[in-house]
This record gives sequence, C-alpha cells and structure tokens, in this order.
Amino acid sequence: MSQFAIAPASESFSQVIESVVFDESTLQRRVKEIAAQVSLDYRGRRLIVIGILKGAHIFTCDLVRHITVPVVMDFMSISRYKRAPDHKEVKITHDLQADIKGEDILLVEDIVDTGLTLHYLAGILKQREPKSVAICSLLDRPALRLAEIPMKYVGFNVDEEQFLIGYGLDYREQYRELPFIAEMNL
Ligand code: IMP
Ligand code: MG
Repeated sequence: MSQFAIAPASESFSQVIESVVFDESTLQRRVKEIAAQVSLDYRGRRLIVIGILKGAHIFTCDLVRHITVPVVMDFMSISRYKRAPDHKEVKITHDLQADIKGEDILLVEDIVDTGLTLHYLAGILKQREPKSVAICSLLDRPALRLAEIPMKYVGFNVDEEQFLIGYGLDYREQYRELPFIAEMNL
C-alpha cells in the first residue's frame, strides 16, 4: 500500500507561486557559504552528514558537494506519531545505515519550525553515543519554536506566515523539484 497520498496533478506553477522568496543563485551562494564554514569548523576531521528525508535531500546533496573535509552521507526518514499527545513524538521510518558511535554528526534539515521533529531525533541519535551532533537547517522559523534547538548553521530565517515550496520543500509531495524557494498561493 502506498504510504502517502499524492495530490491530484495541479494547476500551472504560475497559479501556485505567490512569489519567489529565494532564487536559485541566492540559494546556491548561501549553500556554498555554509559548506565553507562547516569545512573550516571540522578541518582535520571526518563528518557524517545525515539528511532528513525527504525535505532535506536536495539541500544535503548540494551542501556536501562544497564541503572539503571527508564526508560520509547517510539519510533518515521520520514521521510524527499522529496519535501521540500533541503529535510530539517521532517514529523512524527509515534508519541510518552508518554506525555513528564516536563520530561527528551533522544533521541536515530543510526547515525548523516548532523544532519538535529535530528535538526528538537528536535525542534518539545521542543514545547511539556519537562524538558530537550539530544541526544545519537551510531555513529557520524561530517564531514557531516549541523545543529549544541549538542551531549551528542556518541558511535563512523566514516569516511565520509564509508557506514555502521548492528546493525540497513540498505541498502534498509536489514542488520539491523547483530549483528555487517560493511562497505558495494557498
Ligand atoms: P517541526 O520543526 O517539527 O515543526 O517540523 C518542521 C517540518 O515541517 C519540516 O521539516 C518540513 O517538512 C515541514 N514544514 C514546515 N514548514 C514548511 C513549509 O513552509 N513548507 C513545507 N514544509 C514545511
Ligand atoms: Mg521535513
């Protein structure tokens, strides 16, 4: 059985996009800047880069291509337990292949809103005794934060009201493939 419902094929992009918030060259420039900072911070070390599926996969792949320290890429997929009180707990739907004990970890997200997803995920990963865990998110919406998250690398802060699509971010599984980030016309 399929695990998610794909929205019916929709209208043209021009109807869906309210405005472009970060164009392709702005995103790529910022990705390179973050990668340069990561490379500096981890010089002489090896980094396990963990992309959170599906939203962060495009950012993760662009980011690692500009990191100059040795990298091992891995991915995790999680979903919120819908029946848990407040939807606060997460369930791992695809686990890491790497053993992260004693390793430096960079957790890569597309956007952090409440922070609940990352809060629980970081908790689960810390039980596996990595040497360090740092968080990198392309976008940050601090106005919605419910759990305190130590954000080491942030691409851009975004407004509370905007629903964003593109560069990995979806609306009902669509629009992840856009090379820019746009505000959606809901
Ligand atoms: P939270 O930090 O646990 O609230 O979860 C953030 C997650 O919600 C992100 O990883 C995205 O998958 C999703 N999300 C939040 N805001 C947006 C948005 O504007 N567009 C698309 N997905 C979003
Ligand atoms: Mg996500």
